Amino acid sequence: MTTSRSSAGTFRHIPLRPFGRVVEAPGGDARISDIPVDELARWTHESRVLVLRGFRLLETQEFADYCRLWGEVLKWEPGEVIDLVVEENPRNYLFADGDVPFHWDGAFVEADPRYFFFQCLEATPGVGGETVFSDTTAAYRDADSDLRDVWSRISITYTTEKMVHYGGEITERLVAQHPSTGVPVLRFAEPLDPAVYKNPVQAAVHGIDGAMAEEFLASMAERLHRPEYCYAHDWRKGDIVIADNIALVHGRNAFSGPTNRHLQRVEVI
Ligand SMILES: [Fe+2]
Repeated sequence: MTTSRSSAGTFRHIPLRPFGRVVEAPGGDARISDIPVDELARWTHESRVLVLRGFRLLETQEFADYCRLWGEVLKWEPGEVIDLVVEENPRNYLFADGDVPFHWDGAFVEADPRYFFFQCLEATPGVGGETVFSDTTAAYRDADSDLRDVWSRISITYTTEKMVHYGGEITERLVAQHPSTGVPVLRFAEPLDPAVYKNPVQAAVHGIDGAMAEEFLASMAERLHRPEYCYAHDWRKGDIVIADNIALVHGRNAFSGPTNRHLQRVEVI
């Protein structure tokens, strides 16, 4: 654990495993704006997931306005702030209680969000539903040069029907460069089986022999789920989380019981 000081006071920095960082404000009543944006952005790039505890949550409009200090806020049809709650008869798996496979946010919009912000208004402890982040920079770093060579030729077309606030078709190269840190990242979303998920996502792999495509998709999913690359965030009411949407892919564990969890999310381009 380390501490940092700013004009607003002293914050405790507690490392998470295998990556991520909790920044705790001892008094329990700090404001996120007490910490300069460039400092928070640096910590986010270093740790990829930043969990702020002991900070006041923001009103909905205030939350969007705060995120605007970081860059352009993505506007979805429902608005800039998306309420994530579990519904009984959802149209989309994001609002159901099952697992959510790995993806990056904003795949089906024009620009890839660089950061996403969450605040947790309600949480039910001990019923699963953890948000799982996988560090693609670490997965790339650990791959040997032959594998990196294969990956460098791959691009993937993802297709999904628009059910809620996103949908369409996009093609992305598997390997990209992080615009802020310059390190290689993997852009990968797990295909969603129509028999299991309410809004299937198809993935067509280009750049390798067609017969190898299924094997590639399965092996990439297996690799990104390895415990050494994954941090599972168990939500507590009052958490504010900032995550690097370009270095990471994320998903969610299934819930094991009823939950009143309520998260709000904003994406910054
Ligand atoms: Fe997501």
